[in-house]
Amino acid sequence: MTSMLQIIELPAVASTNSELKDRSANQNLANWTVLSAKSQSAGRGQAGNTWETEPDKNIICSIFFRPHNIAADKQFILSKAIAVGIVRYLDSVGIAATIKWPNDIYVGSKKICGILIENTLIGNKINTSIAGIGLNLNQSVFSDRLPNPTSVKLETDQSFDRVKETEKLALSVQKSISTLSENSYEIINSDYHNLLYKKGILSLFKAKDHLFQGTIISVSDTGPITIVDETTKESQQFYFKEVEFCIGSE
Ligand code: BTN
Repeated sequence: MTSMLQIIELPAVASTNSELKDRSANQNLANWTVLSAKSQSAGRGQAGNTWETEPDKNIICSIFFRPHNIAADKQFILSKAIAVGIVRYLDSVGIAATIKWPNDIYVGSKKICGILIENTLIGNKINTSIAGIGLNLNQSVFSDRLPNPTSVKLETDQSFDRVKETEKLALSVQKSISTLSENSYEIINSDYHNLLYKKGILSLFKAKDHLFQGTIISVSDTGPITIVDETTKESQQFYFKEVEFCIGSE
């Protein structure tokens, strides 16, 4: 049985992740509390980046939950499950999206959604998880600073109700996470690899200052990606930031 979502809607926050983190530190938050905001002034992204979002246009939310029995070194399985849940939600609005390792959701070669997951640990287990999701919904004009943004509106030519869609998205993420606790990680891993951006497709990558052609094979539950180098035929594991896609040049 999965529990009901407890959705909190706020007009404005600095960051839904930070707000939810503060609340979880100060009170006993109900499992599956979702904090959603109309606008966010200091949205945080991966690797210390900021996340910009036009007020009242997009899904900006953070989902608090207590995972069942997930080892600290397998934290990335949560990222896989969350990403699969987001792709399933996008499928329900008619968008075929893929998961770009490590943490982005793409439509073609454009980014539609970013994810920032922050976990706390007790011993070698995950205690709480906050899954922050910024999903471009009704925004159709983006800053020139962003390399390749898209939105549900740009992809489908339709506008959606932000609050209703936030709930649908959170439910889809919850459903995907519950697959993890009831079974092994096999279902999520198979879904994740089917949805993985550029998996099995020869692509151009950059590692340190070296450009190479390679093919993604898999992503482990601990996070690194395995890529086979086309020239040397050797497979190599890369951790976050050790390799990047050369998008648009492949
Ligand atoms: C990224 O692509 O770099 C991740 C972006 C994550 C943005 C979301 S918006 C809701 C939540 N609150 C934050 O401060 N960040 C996440």
